[in-house]
Amino acid sequence: MKKQTASSRHSETVTAENKSRAVSVGSGSAASRRNFFKDSGLLLAGGALVGGQLSIARAAHAYGTGTIRVGLVGCGGRGTAAIIQALNTTGGDVRLTAMADVFDSNLQSAFRAIKGKHPSQVDVSPATRFAGLDAYQRVFESDVDVVFLATPPGFRPLHFERAVAAGKHVFMEKPVAVDAPGVRRVLAAGEVAKEKGLAVQVGLQRRHETRYRQCIARLHDGLIGDPIFARAYWNGSGVWTRPRRPAQSELEYQINNWYYFNWLSGDHITEQHVHNLDIINWVMKGFPVEAQGQGGRQVRSGSSAGEIFDHHMIEYTYEGGAKLLSQCRHIAGCWSNVGEHIHGTNGSCDVSAARIFDRRGHLIWESDAQEVAGKGWQQEQIDLFESIRAGQSPNETEYAAHSTLTAIMGRMATYTGKVISWNQALSSNLSLADIDALHTLDSPAPVQPTVNGLYEVAVPGKTVAT
Ligand SMILES: NC(=O)c1ccc[n+]([C@@H]2O[C@H](COP(=O)([O-])OP(=O)(O)OC[C@H]3O[C@@H](n4cnc5c(N)ncnc54)[C@H](O)[C@@H]3O)[C@@H](O)[C@H]2O)c1
Repeated sequence: MKKQTASSRHSETVTAENKSRAVSVGSGSAASRRNFFKDSGLLLAGGALVGGQLSIARAAHAYGTGTIRVGLVGCGGRGTAAIIQALNTTGGDVRLTAMADVFDSNLQSAFRAIKGKHPSQVDVSPATRFAGLDAYQRVFESDVDVVFLATPPGFRPLHFERAVAAGKHVFMEKPVAVDAPGVRRVLAAGEVAKEKGLAVQVGLQRRHETRYRQCIARLHDGLIGDPIFARAYWNGSGVWTRPRRPAQSELEYQINNWYYFNWLSGDHITEQHVHNLDIINWVMKGFPVEAQGQGGRQVRSGSSAGEIFDHHMIEYTYEGGAKLLSQCRHIAGCWSNVGEHIHGTNGSCDVSAARIFDRRGHLIWESDAQEVAGKGWQQEQIDLFESIRAGQSPNETEYAAHSTLTAIMGRMATYTGKVISWNQALSSNLSLADIDALHTLDSPAPVQPTVNGLYEVAVPGKTVAT
């Protein structure tokens, strides 16, 4: 793995709100820390690929300062913001030339928002605005160079596979799938992208922030010895609900209120907590071999709350025995915290605050880097467009797919109450929806409400992992 250096990055403040006090534990040495990584067999190529700086493949075409045409699939909050950030980049002309959304009203709102920010860089005529469930194909058939995939994640494997087949560079939001068959499909498409020299970047934006990069480089250099324990949190009050509207089909309702349906979001452990799990995997240079945990619905109820839990707590085990305590909660009025911490044999680290402590809890290093305005969300677009302009093809598929599977494995553990191994999770054939079969909003929804209008929720001890 190439070492990331601060000098190669812009800077800013960390995104996480975590102010937790770091604790020092154990004893050890930098050398043993380095050996841990060397000997663990966890050095995955994908975990080492971060943005354009570490790109190895060559795309067929270097754009230089020429025009790069981008298309957007999924014109909601994130898709709109990501396109604005792409159009903010300064290495040459970037133009939005095609858009698709299942709902025309969302597409029109995004069009107005993007045009309002970058009037001269939006060349989307009514003829290149496509609405409907199959609209994504029309964007891929157009002459765009890069596609942005920002629908609910349940559609990601299908859209990513088709984008790569169409020969497009891809920016796709996290998570990259909601079930194991989707993860495998994404991994396979990522390999095709490599063969074709296509850039693939994933919206795990912390990987592009200088403070994370500086901090994790020091952990990889052994500053706190061997990692033996980690903590990762996404505890907050939850997100929006979009209640059922008159005349909506069941499928339309679920796609609009997507957060609460597993076939669309993967549950909040997959949709949100993947960010924190990805940071721990980055530090550990691998993924957990096992997970067990518990979770449920303490406050979430009613039809608009769909199928997902409101809390999960998982104990993950990495190769070599290091443990990760992971919590994610959507309950108002509780301890709110988003962040990641590592405890090593020779110190500890609040990764989200970019602060490192010795075994007595004394601060021994702290990042003073300043990120660009827009932080990792802006930096990842700067990195992507710099790479494409240079004819490089960074490929972040593998670590993103593995971190997505880490979250799915956690969900399998909390839903079943059983110990789930990595191999069991990766080989699972539990497909949450036949996405390829959904072509119109009148198609049957992949899950149906029961007689009282509620949806089935997993019951640990009864729900089985398949
Ligand atoms: N990296 C981050 O910090 C971050 C932040 C927010 C969201 N996200 C991710 O971005 C994605 C989108 O989230 P959002 O907050 O923008 O949601 P959103 O609901 O605001 O937008 C999703 C859009 O996708 C459209 N859509 C749904 N299914 C579609 C389909 N099959 N084809 C075309 N369009 C479809 C919806 O109509 C909607 O306009 C999610 O994967 C989410 O996890 C990432």
